[in-house]
Amino acid sequence: MKKICVLLGITTLLATAALFAQSDMDYQGYMKTVGATNGSLQKNIAAKDGKAAAADAQKLESTFKQVEAYWKAKGAADAVTFAQKAGAAFGAAAKSADAGNFDQALADAKGAGANCGGCHMAHREKTDTGFKIK
Ligand code: HEC
Repeated sequence: MKKICVLLGITTLLATAALFAQSDMDYQGYMKTVGATNGSLQKNIAAKDGKAAAADAQKLESTFKQVEAYWKAKGAADAVTFAQKAGAAFGAAAKSADAGNFDQALADAKGAGANCGGCHMAHREKTDTGFKIK
């Protein structure tokens, strides 16, 4: 029993470490996923494909959980708030799409999108080769 507890403890520690060891490369991956999935979500809402739209919105919600963890580790409270709001709005969009309520899903997704620009203004810097985190 004791051994199992120790093992569980170590596993938890490792999982926590992995969460906080997100690199800028990982981050760029999240944003590429967000960009592509958001495009797909808009198309699926327009096509009234509730299942596909809900899957996209869920993927966005979970990606923003990782985005949130990244900024938490950096201690940037404003970015954490943007990420939380975007994630929550995509969560709502997933429910609306799943229920076949596409007008509401579109409104939810728009609400989520309002947070993209806010965070980009504050934390994204354009360089000659692409974007940088600031
Ligand atoms: C919490 C802050 C934050 C939020 C919210 C956010 N972004 Fe970003 N995004 C960034 C930062 C920082 C970068 C620059 C670093 C990078 O490119 O990875 C970026 C870069 C990007 C890129 C360029 C990726 C690349 O390098 O090719 C895309 C596309 C993007 N974001 C889309 C979005 C969309 C769409 C949303 C909203 C649904 C969003 N982002 C919300 C912080 C955010």
